[in-house]
Amino acid sequence: MLCKKLHHAAFRCKDAAETVKFYTEVLGLKFTHAMGEDHVPSTGKYSPHVHIFFEMEDGSHIAFFECPLDEGEPSGRDPKTPGWVQHFAFEVDSMETLLRARQELQAKGLNVVGPTNHDDFITSIYFFDPSGHRLELTVRTCLDPVRLRHFADEAPQVLALWNQTHDWSQREKLFGAQSGYARQDA
Ligand SMILES: [Fe+2]
Repeated sequence: MLCKKLHHAAFRCKDAAETVKFYTEVLGLKFTHAMGEDHVPSTGKYSPHVHIFFEMEDGSHIAFFECPLDEGEPSGRDPKTPGWVQHFAFEVDSMETLLRARQELQAKGLNVVGPTNHDDFITSIYFFDPSGHRLELTVRTCLDPVRLRHFADEAPQVLALWNQTHDWSQREKLFGAQSGYARQDA
């Protein structure tokens, strides 16, 4: 496969120092790199900025730009996209870790949503970083290779039904129930 793993996903932040504090102290990531330029290296456009990287356990990163002269939302979020759509999900190792993290984040004053079960595939909690980016901590809850293969085999059918209907009034065709995911192999 060409793409081996996530290197980084990058977003705009309001304040780099506040962002460093949040990602290192609240989420425990490693602050591995900061680069500063007056001109965007790829385009040459004048935009003084700092680009900061935070590393996870597997070596992948989440990264941010503080670029105060650029137009648009300082957080970089698209105001026309619902707030729950754009988000970044970190994987944690167990349900126990997820629930402990929820408690710790709440103790630090964050508003945490969840845990939410997504299709018996993953379970997640949600909160916002200081710039307003939605973050997710998630744990894989389906470890059965047969069921995982079923999910992958089924994905094109899910997409096809969506393309036909653009709602889920016919969800029983695929999911076995009008709510939840009561598939035959469950
Ligand atoms: Fe997600």
